[in-house]
Amino acid sequence: MRPTMKTVLTGITTSGTPHIGNYVGAIRPAIAASRDRNVRSCLFLADYHSLVKSGKPEQMSRSTLEIAASWLACGLDPAQVVFYRQSDVPEIMELAWILTCMTAKGLMNRAHAYKAAVAENETAASRDPDQGIMMGLFCYPILMAADILMFNASLVPVGRDQKQHVEMARDIAQRFNHHFGETFVLPEAVIGETVAVLPGLDGRKMSKSYGNIIPLFLPEKDLRKAIMRIKTNSLEPGQPKDTADSPLFAIYAAFAVPDEIAAIEKRYAEGIAWGEMKQLLFERIDSEVRSMRAEYDRLVAHPAEVESILRDGAAKARALSMPFLADIRRRVGVRPLA
Ligand code: TRP
Repeated sequence: MRPTMKTVLTGITTSGTPHIGNYVGAIRPAIAASRDRNVRSCLFLADYHSLVKSGKPEQMSRSTLEIAASWLACGLDPAQVVFYRQSDVPEIMELAWILTCMTAKGLMNRAHAYKAAVAENETAASRDPDQGIMMGLFCYPILMAADILMFNASLVPVGRDQKQHVEMARDIAQRFNHHFGETFVLPEAVIGETVAVLPGLDGRKMSKSYGNIIPLFLPEKDLRKAIMRIKTNSLEPGQPKDTADSPLFAIYAAFAVPDEIAAIEKRYAEGIAWGEMKQLLFERIDSEVRSMRAEYDRLVAHPAEVESILRDGAAKARALSMPFLADIRRRVGVRPLA
């Protein structure tokens, strides 16, 4: 089933609600890239990956719905891409087992996330380095390899922290091809070097683990309040200000066009008051997210609509995965009964 078009594929973790850093750094560029007619774009909700962390069923299904609604509200066109939930494509899970049987344990021992968990146990002077570590965490890279190889993706846009996983998928594919003949396309990670990394409320990188995020779809009033809390220095109105160390400016620049950015640079040099800058930033972000927020609220209130989109996406994905998995099973010797 080697496609004639290249396939670009990426997974979206289904935990929490997206923040404006996710929007600028991942969602917006991925949606822009998905409009490229010359590639097949597969985007999926990696819900079985979040099961590794989550023990909360309600949160798990709620979050999957919210993340799907967020991407749709941000302009993802389900007709142009293959947009599905990982758990709706059972061939991925079956391939994951086949790959598990031919992946060296030593390769998984080297995975950063597993190593970090072991290292933490060791510093905690625990007698068991594997304390509390589930096989789901250990095998996480194999499931990710199955996600990627199932659709013969050649390009996999991911954050830097996921690069090792894509390289492992490539190793696994190579080994399979060597034993069973050319089967899988060898994937390559694409790391977005040019996209902005946004500072959060405290000036550090915006991240859920720092508790400094601005959620993307806050109600208008709460969005304004959050922006008013962004850290500034104590320069008075009228005193010239530096754009280089200003989180307000960095966030503004991620939303604005070059002319708007130039105008704000001028206002900084003239000594714009922080209060006024915060108001301008609020207005700029609000004007970009206003209609998306309305669509998000509508979709979350109509989950059946989101579900039907995901069902259609899974059907498209399975039209690819079912025949390919049949071929893979045959190659490893799991043949249909006569
Ligand atoms: N592990 C990825 C992350 O944490 C999400 C993911 C799951 C993924 N499967 C994937 C990304 C396949 C790319 C390809 O962000």
